[in-house]
Amino acid sequence: MSLKTVCTIVGARPQFIKAAPVSRVLATSFREILIHTGQHYDYGMSEVFFEEMEMRSPDFHLGAGGGTHAEQTGKMLIEIEKILNSVKPDYVLVYGDTNSTLAGALAAAKAQIPLAHVEAGLRSYNRAMPEEINRVLTDHVSSLLFCPTDAAIENLAKEGITEGVHRVGDVMYDALLHNLALARERSTILKSLGLEKGTYALATVHRAANTDNPARMTAILNGLGSIAAQVVFPIHPRTRKMVREAGLSVSKNVMMVEPVGHLDVLTLQENANCILTDSGGMQKEAYLLGVRCITLREETEWVETVQAGWNRLAGVDINAIRSAFETWYPSGERPLFYGNGKAAEEICQILSRELLSAAS
Ligand code: UD1
Repeated sequence: MSLKTVCTIVGARPQFIKAAPVSRVLATSFREILIHTGQHYDYGMSEVFFEEMEMRSPDFHLGAGGGTHAEQTGKMLIEIEKILNSVKPDYVLVYGDTNSTLAGALAAAKAQIPLAHVEAGLRSYNRAMPEEINRVLTDHVSSLLFCPTDAAIENLAKEGITEGVHRVGDVMYDALLHNLALARERSTILKSLGLEKGTYALATVHRAANTDNPARMTAILNGLGSIAAQVVFPIHPRTRKMVREAGLSVSKNVMMVEPVGHLDVLTLQENANCILTDSGGMQKEAYLLGVRCITLREETEWVETVQAGWNRLAGVDINAIRSAFETWYPSGERPLFYGNGKAAEEICQILSRELLSAAS
């Protein structure tokens, strides 16, 4: 029997991390066609991840980065449709909640190719976030919905989606288990930045709601400046642009550095005293690594981390940020909310079963 073809669509930094463990397992029983939309295109935002995680080069690179949401998503949609029409995959696989996810989902749905969504069912219930729109729409056109958590399953049920829903755990946990070992072996970032374990905080900010609002961005920078510790701040291109254009000032204790690769960021996280972030992936990684996380948003999709007491939602309130940093030291248990590190295997097994039953 000839191998079934799965077309994986990625484009932004966290998707490379999520796709890597799944692609490794897919390779054992499927033909995988990898499309990179080009949403992220700087070496430090894209290629370095392919190198570090030993991913093969994409079969197609669409160069669809930059522009407005409509320009970016539209360009991807047009190009993905052409590829789907010529490759005719048996399944399309998308990850997370970016514009690349939505473009892949729409292209598959229009071409009547079944779609699988990894990280389905997450909700912030804040429709001002582009990611929320991307998630909701993608889930509603997916045939297979791979959920990382119980909360995700419940969210889908509230929207009437109960078919094709599977709780497989979180592929980010699979990725963490694999990459942490590599990071411990290979990363030299602590030495090159002159940092010592447990003495610094790690900050990242990239959500449009924060970076594109000068008042919020100023409040975050003031919050980081109020902390009595050195703050390492790898800066996303969107954030760098905003800080420059708005002429925002950065306190002396905040060390801005270029975006770092995944092994370096894991090392920075594992050894930090505290993580301050608006990233979803880093909230989970902080939890899994047992590092306290102060989230620079008013809500989160990863509600379990807050309920377990390891994540605090501080928004952009300077007092909330400083007081959490100074007075809050979680020490409770960290239940295994995110599965057993074998989400990728489960995803591939379910895909195989699905394709087998479709063929019979
Ligand atoms: C995107 C996702 C977000 C995800 C994040 C991970 C959407 C709506 N948002 O946000 O959910 O958490 O990726 O990082 O899809 N840029 C560069 N070089 C790059 C990449 C981007 O200069 O390699 C610039 C772009 O030209 C643009 C800005 O950064 O001006 C934002 O990039 P974009 O891809 O639109 O969204 P992200 O903020 O990265």
